[in-house]
Amino acid sequence: MSAKILLLPGDGIGPEVVEQAAAVLRRAADRFAIDIELSEADLGGIAIDRHGDAYPPATQQAAREADAVLMGSVGGPKWDGLPAPDRPEKGLLRIRADLDLFGNLRPALLYPQLAAASSLKAELVAGLDIMIVRELTGGIYFGEPRGIHRLENGEREGYNTYRYSEREIERIARLAFDTARRRDNRVCSVDKANVLEVTMLWREVVERVASEYSDVELSHMYVDNAAMQLVREPKQFDVIVTGNLFGDILSDTAAMLTGSIGMLPSASLDANSKGLYEPVHGSAPDIAGQGKANPLATILSVAMLLRYSLGRSEAADAIETAVSAVLDRGLRTGDIASPGGVVVTTQQMGEAVVESIS
Ligand code: NAI
Ligand code: MG
Repeated sequence: MSAKILLLPGDGIGPEVVEQAAAVLRRAADRFAIDIELSEADLGGIAIDRHGDAYPPATQQAAREADAVLMGSVGGPKWDGLPAPDRPEKGLLRIRADLDLFGNLRPALLYPQLAAASSLKAELVAGLDIMIVRELTGGIYFGEPRGIHRLENGEREGYNTYRYSEREIERIARLAFDTARRRDNRVCSVDKANVLEVTMLWREVVERVASEYSDVELSHMYVDNAAMQLVREPKQFDVIVTGNLFGDILSDTAAMLTGSIGMLPSASLDANSKGLYEPVHGSAPDIAGQGKANPLATILSVAMLLRYSLGRSEAADAIETAVSAVLDRGLRTGDIASPGGVVVTTQQMGEAVVESIS
């Protein structure tokens, strides 16, 4: 049976980078005899324009039927005037919730060819390869009750609720341990168990799950220390697992250690390895339609799709090796260019990766 892959190009540079990534996916599927069936649907601003809804029913149906989804990016100045619930970005939040994508995998991997882009000294980041596993559908971003209300003295008070159930903690912990097994067998769980009860429970449940993974080494770290350690000595980490809020902050911090937003893929997984794969960057309206976008983050998202949803690590490895080979040849889009280097277009970069897949 063929694997159904849904493409959601979205807005801005989304269609440009997804076009190249889809070409890489087709090439890898050919090369490794993977039976795939590609289809395309609208999400975000383009879906608002065409269907009056950022996540229209046809897209919803296609997403539910797909084995994996490859997304570009959504949003842009054209829709900035819309009220929050109607904006393109809401389409992305809705598809994540609809597909119950609770596990967000964000690698921070520094390509040696791009070491100069890091915000840290070369020796601190050389060989950096971290995976942040962030819980994506719970925690304080979704907890109820929430709101802003008026106190008796007339002053207003804002409040949110930070909660995690044992089941929610257990499934993200399992994803982290399973991920560590594909890597260096080390998990660091990040919490604030010295202050927050919800993360005391988090620590307890993570410990319990760890007992089923005796081959994986578990450590714990408070989030304030983890933030320090990430910029002090980032290479000490292999897999970091944490909740939604801490993961949001730490994954962006880790991303900057690599310095190149155009190089960072991500995966959001459900309990059955179905996933939504997307570059970390947005729709980059400032360069959209100019052939300047770096397609590598989306191409590397395809590698994650093959590894995590289709179980085809050999094809994923081949794509990652091809990306490295293209960088070795000195090909650069503007965002990763060094002074005096050769700058190529989105399409040239994509074609070079396709040709390098062997
Ligand atoms: P952005 O990531 O789109 O752009 C930030 C900067 O990085 C810009 O200078 C852009 O040109 C550059 N950049 C981003 N991706 C690049 C690539 N592949 N190649 C070369 N340069 C690249 O973030 P920004 O400007 O904050 O947001 C723009 C729009 O994207 C907004 O509407 C925002 O809401 C949306 N957005 C969407 C996301 C998504 O779809 N997941 C995530 C973040 C933002
Ligand atoms: Mg963020």
